[in-house]
Amino acid sequence: MFNNILAIETSCDETASAVFHISDNKVLSNELFSQVKLHEIYGGVVPEIASRSHLEKIDIIVQQALEKANKKLSDIDIVAVTNKPGLSGSLLVGLSFAKAIAWSLNKKLIGVNHLEAHVFSSFLNDDFSVRDDIQFPHLCLSVSGGHTALYLVHGFGDYEVVGQTVDDAAGEAFDKVAKIIGLGYPGGAVIEKLAGEVNFQDFFNYPRSRKLFKELKFSFSGLKTAVLYDLVKRGVYNLKTGPVEGMIDLNLQRQVSSSLLLAISDVFKQVVKQAFKKYPEVKGFTFVGGVACNKFITNELSNLCDRYGKQFVSPHCKFCGDNAAMISFVASYKAKQGKFSDFTLDLFD
Ligand code: KG4
Ligand code: ZN
Repeated sequence: MFNNILAIETSCDETASAVFHISDNKVLSNELFSQVKLHEIYGGVVPEIASRSHLEKIDIIVQQALEKANKKLSDIDIVAVTNKPGLSGSLLVGLSFAKAIAWSLNKKLIGVNHLEAHVFSSFLNDDFSVRDDIQFPHLCLSVSGGHTALYLVHGFGDYEVVGQTVDDAAGEAFDKVAKIIGLGYPGGAVIEKLAGEVNFQDFFNYPRSRKLFKELKFSFSGLKTAVLYDLVKRGVYNLKTGPVEGMIDLNLQRQVSSSLLLAISDVFKQVVKQAFKKYPEVKGFTFVGGVACNKFITNELSNLCDRYGKQFVSPHCKFCGDNAAMISFVASYKAKQGKFSDFTLDLFD
């Protein structure tokens, strides 16, 4: 009865829209405007700029998603939208837009939890189809600039947090260290590139939060501080005035990047190992979120899964960072489960 879903995602700094076809079980379009250039000079996302930009772009991106899917608004049966968690002003733009379309055109509405969407993004194939070979229960590590958590996933929409960061998200550690050593924002991708130029060696052996591994907890703020104090010790960084002019050269940037990447990757491996011991019944492991774009970490975790005889799945990078395809997929199973929202749907409900 319901076939076409229009999905909208505006929780942070990407304005995104997608169309999903339920009976073909396929994403038909996945459009996105990234605000990264607008926030770059501030070294992080500025909430007021983010919400204003969503407002300017949302109708254009939604129109693009419909056109790419070869659909008109009148073909749409369900409007799905991220209503939590995220920046309030940003979420509000998507939620108001989605509610206005659904209410005025008499469509169904489905609110989607952004974190749930990351967890189930692993089901999206590169060609927009939905994969049918991921078994339950499985473990999912979701890592981005805003969150780092390990989930035990029992079924569609049925999952629990079994481990998480006690302080910063891992993506935040990449971004903060990148800023300290003068690599700009966001930092993950450039850190990976520089680390590759020195063959992913561990030069500085930054401390890992070993005591937390058994409890499936992560900690990254100490790592960022360790990098900072190591640079101070080397005389290339001043806590009051910042980097000492010309002292953090390309070679040092490469060595810090590589050592940081190895430390973060190691923390993930240790925690996942403990999780496999604690939950021997899991069939596999999925790695999602913006940081899952990192090929080095993906390879390391894939090798670990091979050793433990677990299936490893990480979606294409276009489904790792924030996107609306993952929102549309969650809406597709919610629709099949009859889980619709009413028009009182609010932020954070
Ligand atoms: O999921 P996402 O696009 O947005 C959030 O919800 O935060 O993730 C962005 C984060 C940033 O911290 C960025 O530095 C990190 O993902 N990231 C990476 C890579 N590409 C993006 N981290 C490590 N390696 C990468 N290749
Ligand atoms: Zn996200």
